[in-house]
Amino acid sequence: MSFPSNFLWGGDISANQAEGGWNEGGKSPNMTDYQLGATVDTPRMATYQMSDGSYGKTVGAFDNVNLPEGAKLACIPGEFYPNHKATDFYHHYKEDIALFGEMGFKAFNLTLSWARIYPYGIEKGVNHEGVDFYHNVFQECLKYGIEPIVHLYKYDMPAFYVTEMNGWLNRKLIDEFYQFSTFAINEYKDEVTYWSTFNEINAALFTIIDESNQLEVQNAYTRLHHQLVASAKVVKYVHDHYPEKKIGCMTAGLFTHPYTCDPKDQQLSQKVMHDRFYYVSDTFVRGHYPSYAKRLWKENGVTIEITEEDTRDLENGKVDFFEFSYYFTNLVPIHDEETETIGGNLIGGVKNPYLKVSDWGWAIDPEGLKFFLHEIYDRYQIPLLNCENGLGAFDTLEEDGRVHDPYRIEYHRAHIQAMSEAIDEGVDLIGYTTWGCLDLVSASTGEIRKRYGFVYVDVDDQGNGTYKRYKKDSFEWYKKCIQSNGEDLD
Ligand code: BG6
Repeated sequence: MSFPSNFLWGGDISANQAEGGWNEGGKSPNMTDYQLGATVDTPRMATYQMSDGSYGKTVGAFDNVNLPEGAKLACIPGEFYPNHKATDFYHHYKEDIALFGEMGFKAFNLTLSWARIYPYGIEKGVNHEGVDFYHNVFQECLKYGIEPIVHLYKYDMPAFYVTEMNGWLNRKLIDEFYQFSTFAINEYKDEVTYWSTFNEINAALFTIIDESNQLEVQNAYTRLHHQLVASAKVVKYVHDHYPEKKIGCMTAGLFTHPYTCDPKDQQLSQKVMHDRFYYVSDTFVRGHYPSYAKRLWKENGVTIEITEEDTRDLENGKVDFFEFSYYFTNLVPIHDEETETIGGNLIGGVKNPYLKVSDWGWAIDPEGLKFFLHEIYDRYQIPLLNCENGLGAFDTLEEDGRVHDPYRIEYHRAHIQAMSEAIDEGVDLIGYTTWGCLDLVSASTGEIRKRYGFVYVDVDDQGNGTYKRYKKDSFEWYKKCIQSNGEDLD
């Protein structure tokens, strides 16, 4: 086994999915604070109030929500909003970080809540209580020798920007994000070395509510362009002011295998990889849109307003390392045949008969991870960080106060083995921060029972429970894994 001695073993959570404290400490609501959990019949819905006082629900993903004329985002009394309290990291962070320390984490990947730091935009000023919260979190990490890896943006746009400024559609957001980010980078300069601008930046293309609506498709590409430029500007800032620090941008590793050996299927999987994944990562790693972008824009009937300054910013803001999430792989068939579909976080796909699936129907594919690591490293030749990987599963808290989760151990073992082989074969992988090391709220469904953690949080899908923390069997297993630097996976 060949993990480097400074390999960043650890875990990952995000502010909106774990923190809670949605209206505490001067934080303003973000978009997920208005989202209900999904039900069998409906996806996650955002809620609003009309001027006559009546309430309504609408499909909304992150900063993309279609509100009726005159409606304001609002919480409906009596409804349960899972992100409001989430798993209450806000009040439990000391205990949680102590548990991460006990597992021997070298790194803890987390996100800043923009709405906690600048609740109502840059002009209205910084919220010192929010700033202090993260100082406390980082200090706690450093106490246990844990390196914080900090994402500046993860699916939790302050709602203010969406209602007042039209969110990422508005170019002004580039500067707002730049101001927020550079403030944070300066403020936490003594505590944070690894930064990342956006989480799953390619998600902008998968949160289109109505694919047949040309304006929405155009808007998705525009939003993404603004995010790419904003990211590049922040990367440049770090390079100019803190050359010793490292900064990346993260994409959802939506890896797609060819469906058959029909060359047409091969071509299709290449196209899908271009369109869903490389279009974005080629841009932030190489500093310009790839050659096939023109084909993609044409096919989608979109025009991107790329100013000279944008071109310069993109060129000057190439990331230092490549960060990705990896949960499952997909297939896309070219042939018109009956195919069985499966689930996925941003997009579902076609069932791969060679792979088992999780409780939520996501294809489990550690071999695919090895393949993916080689693909990415061959293409970019910069260090890679696997910052999100894990198994969302039903867990049961037993009478012995433990969760016995061999399925989760099996999942991580197989993925760690795949990473180890890739490293042996030359891939420069610098870290593995497993997703949801502490149970948290699912991004796609709003459920808590879809658990990823090594640490169980006693709370159900309606927020009932003590919020007490319990170790799962995987907790001890991961501890051993880290202690042995990935050698002991039994
Ligand atoms: C990743 C997201 O794509 O998938 C996380 O970055 C998310 O926010 C994770 O939680 C797992 O997806 P889900 O829907 O099971 O929470």
